[in-house]
Amino acid sequence: MGATAVKRARYIWIPLLALLIAIPAGFYYVHWSQQGEGAGFYSRLWSPEAIFAYWAPDDFYDSVQSVEGRFEGPACVSCHSAITPGIVNDWRASRHARAETPVYCSDCHGDDHRRLHMPTPRVCGECHATQHGQFLDERRFGFPSHALALERALDANHFVDKPKAEVTACLQCHSVAAKCDSCHTRHRFAAAEARRPEACITCHSGPPHPDVESYFASAHGQIYLAEGAEWDWSKPLREGNYRAPTCAYCHMHQGQHQVADKPIWKFGIKQVNPLTSANRVRRKRWLEVCDDCHDEALARDALVGLDRERKRAWEKLYAAEAELRSLREENLFHPAAGSRPPYPNDWLDRLWPRARIGFFEGQASAFYNVSPIERDYFEMWYFDNLSAYKGAAHGDAERVQAAHARLDADLKAIRARADRLREQARREQAAGIVAPDPSSLWLNGEYTEFNREHN
Ligand code: HEC
Ligand code: HEC
Ligand code: HEC
Ligand code: HEC
Ligand code: HEC
Ligand code: HEC
Ligand code: HEC
Ligand code: HEC
Repeated sequence: MGATAVKRARYIWIPLLALLIAIPAGFYYVHWSQQGEGAGFYSRLWSPEAIFAYWAPDDFYDSVQSVEGRFEGPACVSCHSAITPGIVNDWRASRHARAETPVYCSDCHGDDHRRLHMPTPRVCGECHATQHGQFLDERRFGFPSHALALERALDANHFVDKPKAEVTACLQCHSVAAKCDSCHTRHRFAAAEARRPEACITCHSGPPHPDVESYFASAHGQIYLAEGAEWDWSKPLREGNYRAPTCAYCHMHQGQHQVADKPIWKFGIKQVNPLTSANRVRRKRWLEVCDDCHDEALARDALVGLDRERKRAWEKLYAAEAELRSLREENLFHPAAGSRPPYPNDWLDRLWPRARIGFFEGQASAFYNVSPIERDYFEMWYFDNLSAYKGAAHGDAERVQAAHARLDADLKAIRARADRLREQARREQAAGIVAPDPSSLWLNGEYTEFNREHN
């Protein structure tokens, strides 16, 4: 063996050694980042509100200390009849109170009043292993899902990047991961309540996810509105029991506590190939749902219609993205990346300030403090696109039409604004004008300062 070969063999240890240091350092960093006052990956960058104790109890709930003692179930009920009569009434009306062996306050909250807990799905799972198991199984399908909703919000860039006052509500909806009482509310815990579409309204409405709006406008929702009051909601959501489906009928088919095993388009925020083998399996699962009431051909056509709508929407979105990319090349975003405050957690943005265009460049983070034309694209993508998606998914034809008309108008407006920016730049150059540098205003303005201190 030559001397150089020996040397070369020695060099192999350098990357190996680096790896040996880097892996534990990585683990340590992740661990460290989760040790702050908040929770999740950015826990050191924000502090919790008091109400978070109820939305993410594992992270934030501490028992009240004002009452001391250990109590049997009936003692809890008796004192709480005076302290919280509404809760006791709801509990009395529930299956829990009427079960052969009643499920008392202490079964869910513990019996030591200085060490109470707010029950997470794990506690319910001690008696409802089937539902809890299905719920946890959602994790296999990745995002979005109820089981992963909390970490999804906490680990999202825009949760810490945005001013605190604007993001408190994130946890209220995304708490669905930490509480079984999202759909069957405490302390009735009624299955009948959860079968109705109203059970989903609290969270599944509003511009980025107009599920409720699109459902009520569909043939299914219209039938529910006209006749639902007369249906017998004590029946399980099974074939033959209901004339038209509700949210849970379709998304929790056969009462499965699993909402993530079917959706192909994943919230509609990126283009997917609807014909991969995994997506063919999902499509089959959808057809099994529709089969309860429809001929398979109608259902298949409806799903193909959704794919077509998505393709059309993405053609428009990509055209707008192309316009933005060309502006980025021409350096025409005002303020440009680098002249606007970096996102607090975004090291890449500090090292390499660059406008992020499109889902895969991390656009999700660019919700605010961007230039007007980038914001226009954000609204096109997040509101009008997602509205069109839900219209097509749920059979609200009017919404699809209106949202596509807006997508067309958005694209036109973005192109017109891009032309104006180019024209302005051309004129400034011709006249030898140097535009004033706004970066000090953006980087150290009142709004930026306030948010830096109040997250
Ligand atoms: C002697 C009366 C009394 C008895 C018995 C009693 N509680 Fe309470 N409980 C209270 C009072 C008073 C509060 C309000 C405490 C506060 O806000 O500081 C309370 C609050 C609570 C809360 C709300 C805590 C929070 O942080 O929101 C829960 C849950 C609770 N009790 C459960 C129980 C359970 C379970 C038992 C039986 C093991 C029980 N209680 C027995 C008086 C009682
Ligand atoms: C089947 C389980 C279960 C039983 C039984 C139960 N609770 Fe609860 N309770 C919950 C859940 C779930 C929450 C919400 C937890 C959260 O917000 O994270 C809750 C929250 C509470 C709260 C605080 C929130 C609020 O609305 O004020 C109080 C107080 C409370 N329960 C009292 C009681 C009392 C009193 C009883 C008995 C009459 C009782 N609970 C029985 C599951 C239960
Ligand atoms: C100590 C055991 C136990 C715990 C803990 C428990 N349950 Fe139950 N649950 C029961 C029993 C028993 C029944 C009644 C079953 C029956 O009568 O067939 C029931 C029934 C139900 C039902 C059906 C009600 C209906 O309208 O048909 C729901 C929903 C439910 N529980 C939800 C929950 C949730 C949510 C939690 C946690 C916050 C929870 N349970 C915690 C034992 C428990
Ligand atoms: C407390 C709020 C809340 C309630 C109530 C709620 N959800 Fe959700 N749901 C969410 C959140 C948050 C997400 C997105 C989670 C994420 O970011 O991964 C979600 C996601 C979903 C998804 C997408 C899953 C996927 O894989 O694409 C479906 C479907 C869904 N929910 C159906 C329902 C239905 C049906 C109901 C009513 C029976 C309901 N949800 C009630 C908060 C809620
Ligand atoms: C009104 C209830 C609600 C509020 C408030 C809310 N979300 Fe959501 N969020 C949802 C629902 C419902 C979905 C799933 C929509 C779907 O699948 O169509 C979702 C989806 C998401 C997703 C995408 C999930 C994925 O994996 O594709 C992220 C990330 C997210 N939310 C983060 C946040 C953050 C951060 C905030 C606060 C700024 C927030 N959400 C506020 C209900 C809410
Ligand atoms: C997204 C809404 C939603 C959430 C969250 C949810 N449930 Fe349910 N739950 C339902 C619906 C809908 C039904 C009725 C299913 C049917 O008709 O077959 C139901 C029914 C039940 C039943 C009665 C089952 C039966 O056959 O009588 C139990 C028990 C239950 N849920 C427990 C839980 C537990 C435990 C959790 C938390 C892990 C939970 N649920 C979370 C929507 C939900
Ligand atoms: C007739 C069955 C049906 C009913 C009823 C229904 N949906 Fe849907 N939903 C669908 C289909 C199909 C999709 C498209 C999913 C896909 O891309 O594969 C969808 C998409 C969704 C998504 C987005 C899933 C994702 O990740 O892309 C959410 C969230 C959702 N529905 C919630 C609801 C809510 C809330 C209701 C009631 C207000 C409801 N749905 C009623 C069939 C239904
Ligand atoms: C519980 C029964 C039931 C289920 C399940 C169901 N539907 Fe329907 N659907 C109906 C009824 C009833 C109508 C109204 C028929 C009419 O318009 O005359 C309808 C209407 C429709 C229409 C409008 C048809 C038209 O001619 O205008 C479409 C599209 C549709 N459903 C698609 C679906 C798809 C896709 C699924 C599965 C994801 C599904 N449905 C699941 C009962 C159901």
